[in-house]
Amino acid sequence: PWHVFDKLRADAPVHWSEEPAPNHGFWSLTRYHDIVSVLRDTETFSSERGTVNLEELDADQIEARKSMLETDGVRHRALRRLMQGEFTPRAVAGYETFLRGLTASTLDAAFANKEFEFVDQVAADFPIRVLAKMLDVPDTDIYKLIDWGNRMIGNDDPEHADVLASSAESEEFRLLPFRSPAAREVFEYGNDLANQRRGKDGTDLVSRLVNQEPMDGKALSERDFNSYFLLLVVAGNETTRHTITHSMNYLMDNPDQLELLQEKPELIPWAVEEFLRMASPVYHFRRTATKDTEINGQAIKEGQKVVTWFAAGNRDPEVFENPYKMDVTRNPNEHMAFGRGGPHMCLGNSLARLEIRIMFENLLPRITSMTKLSEPDRLRSNFVNGIKRLPVSVELAK
Ligand code: HEM
Repeated sequence: PWHVFDKLRADAPVHWSEEPAPNHGFWSLTRYHDIVSVLRDTETFSSERGTVNLEELDADQIEARKSMLETDGVRHRALRRLMQGEFTPRAVAGYETFLRGLTASTLDAAFANKEFEFVDQVAADFPIRVLAKMLDVPDTDIYKLIDWGNRMIGNDDPEHADVLASSAESEEFRLLPFRSPAAREVFEYGNDLANQRRGKDGTDLVSRLVNQEPMDGKALSERDFNSYFLLLVVAGNETTRHTITHSMNYLMDNPDQLELLQEKPELIPWAVEEFLRMASPVYHFRRTATKDTEINGQAIKEGQKVVTWFAAGNRDPEVFENPYKMDVTRNPNEHMAFGRGGPHMCLGNSLARLEIRIMFENLLPRITSMTKLSEPDRLRSNFVNGIKRLPVSVELAK
């Protein structure tokens, strides 16, 4: 999509795409600073009327699907506060030893063969195993969690398609997040965990969620629990998986950068920021204007949808010199892969950064080179910038 983003950013930075009713259309923002100003101004640009897709949602759908990501103001703060403490840099540092062990065993298994498929062998299971640890669920459930994520997030791709044409119109599926039957399975699974852990003093994320009283001294309603749980299951997995895969792909395209990191591993934390900027695994979210307003001189009407293309902001030459060049020493690197500056800024950003850093701190010293056996097989999606398969061949260090 990059040349399209570049053209829009240069010629029409606030660009209207007309769509037939009932969706009507949306504004695309491709300049970094315009995106930041929309993310910050939550009074004018609301998340309540949907953030993850462009369809027009009716009141029932909004209510049924709403998660933290799709709330504003007081309700958003109350929901976010519930898990804030679990995702601070300090809290996630507690997983470091676990992550090092997990990375080492993942790489041992992958490197047992000279040729292997990077997504399947290295990137796909890693974030989900971390989540399984945080939820305190058995390893045997991991493939279920991966499958649900694939079916919900990747469901524009025919390979993962989960939206049954006939059922898409039915009331039940209309109200499910991502219109996906997988969401119903996630709810059932989450509810079982909640029932087992309610009233006990577990320290896993589910126990913490069900045993706190976020709003008006009341426990989370089943609906709020469901969407919270679903968000935790989907938000961190595909995103982290695709960042790791893109990063490896970019390093194979830029062997000078790979060598630099092998010589100076202390640069890896900087490299992680550049990996995130280049990968931009979440292409966009959207907001809805709550009143007539303007962005960069362009009038926006109440009720119109505004799409913040993080991936385009991350290649804005006004902010990032030579934006297509991978530079693991880039500094400053205030990318917007996790959003930027607004209250919805990714809750899991410290965890994601830690996972990616530990992966490459372990991987890079173990190889002398890695080469692609074919170009990456891309996910078909305008939401997640994903890679489904990346076959590679590795030379291990002695
Ligand atoms: C929100 C990206 C990993 C949990 C977001 C947002 C983005 C994002 C762009 C919305 C920002 C905004 O609208 O201002 C990413 C990327 C990741 C990642 C690129 C990995 C590379 C994770 C992880 C978790 C997580 C590991 C937790 C397990 C969340 C949650 C929200 C969120 C709960 C909603 C926050 C809110 O609405 O207040 N993420 N994310 N994410 N992310 Fe992440």
